Amino acid sequence: MSRFHQDFSAIFDIRYLIFDVRTTNHELRTTILGVKHRMMKVTVLTLFPEMFAPLQESILKRAQEAGLVKIHLVDFRDYAASKHKNVDDVPYGGGAGMLLKPEPIFAAIRDLPQPEGKRRVILTSPQGNVFHQAKAEEWFEQDELVFICGHYEGFDERIRELADEEVSIGDYVLTGGELAAMVMIDAVVRLIPGVLGEDTSAQEDSHSISLLEYPQYTRPADFEGRQVPEVLLSGHHARIKQWRRKESLRRTFLRRPDLIKAVTFGVDDYPLLEELLLEHEEIAEWQVLWKHLCPRPKRRRKSLKNPEGKQSQELPLRELEVSEIDI
Ligand SMILES: C[S@@+](CC[C@H](N)C(=O)[O-])C[C@H]1O[C@@H](n2cnc3c(N)ncnc32)[C@H](O)[C@@H]1O
Repeated sequence: MSRFHQDFSAIFDIRYLIFDVRTTNHELRTTILGVKHRMMKVTVLTLFPEMFAPLQESILKRAQEAGLVKIHLVDFRDYAASKHKNVDDVPYGGGAGMLLKPEPIFAAIRDLPQPEGKRRVILTSPQGNVFHQAKAEEWFEQDELVFICGHYEGFDERIRELADEEVSIGDYVLTGGELAAMVMIDAVVRLIPGVLGEDTSAQEDSHSISLLEYPQYTRPADFEGRQVPEVLLSGHHARIKQWRRKESLRRTFLRRPDLIKAVTFGVDDYPLLEELLLEHEEIAEWQVLWKHLCPRPKRRRKSLKNPEGKQSQELPLRELEVSEIDI
């Protein structure tokens, strides 16, 4: 059976083993294989609910079918009071474009059911803080996320007060908040245990531990002369783990050095980092971040031959410089 089929059938089994969905202490929980999982609720206020069709495909579709997430789309045009259901108007003071009016969005938010637990209201906006993995992990702790999608030239300023936070998916301007909301929903939902095949796979992804993911290979071992690194075929788990850590470090140093400051280095990283330093001299500027991990020379014990416990010439009693250590 192919890996795809194995993964797919595992998820399929989970679907049929759900036997209990109920509300306890304001938290919607679903029981899968005897383990309780929280059901996250995602509500999206949008003028274009049809744009969310991609959420009905693949992993997100299965997550909804498995009761791990419930996605609720609210067309706030339904809350427009005017005969023609207008949701936008010209800006005071003049200027190009139309702004979303406050009334329909306020009414839609006020009409949401009482939150079952912790709820966060997010305004999609190019003016917000830029979304990143740590934010996805923070939101994953919530019971409900509510996204407000703007459109046209933006929002009436008073709409901002409805939101707990204003978030952008990057320093560029989209035509509407729908694509931004979908990106963020995807990043949060895949963190829910049971959504991906293995719970560990989300933890090892790039950004989950501030490091980019190491290179991955699948069969064939030799593709038109391009070989899979020998260590990955060795079956030696400790060596594979070490190789992956080193390659993650290498990728992060070379591609995203801005992430390096957030990495927590362990003592086992020291030899890997020193090897990388020999391979890429440009990473020397970060050396200060791991210098403290340099193994200290052992103190000599007093002995009859050396009653003072003096250090030999070859091993002076001082911390060695990183450049002096022979790995
Ligand atoms: C054309 S934009 C409006 C931009 C607005 N005039 C401004 O300068 O802030 C329309 C809507 O798309 C969404 N949007 C655009 N770019 C975005 C981004 N980078 N991240 C998140 N949402 C974005 C927001 O909901 C925004 O209200």
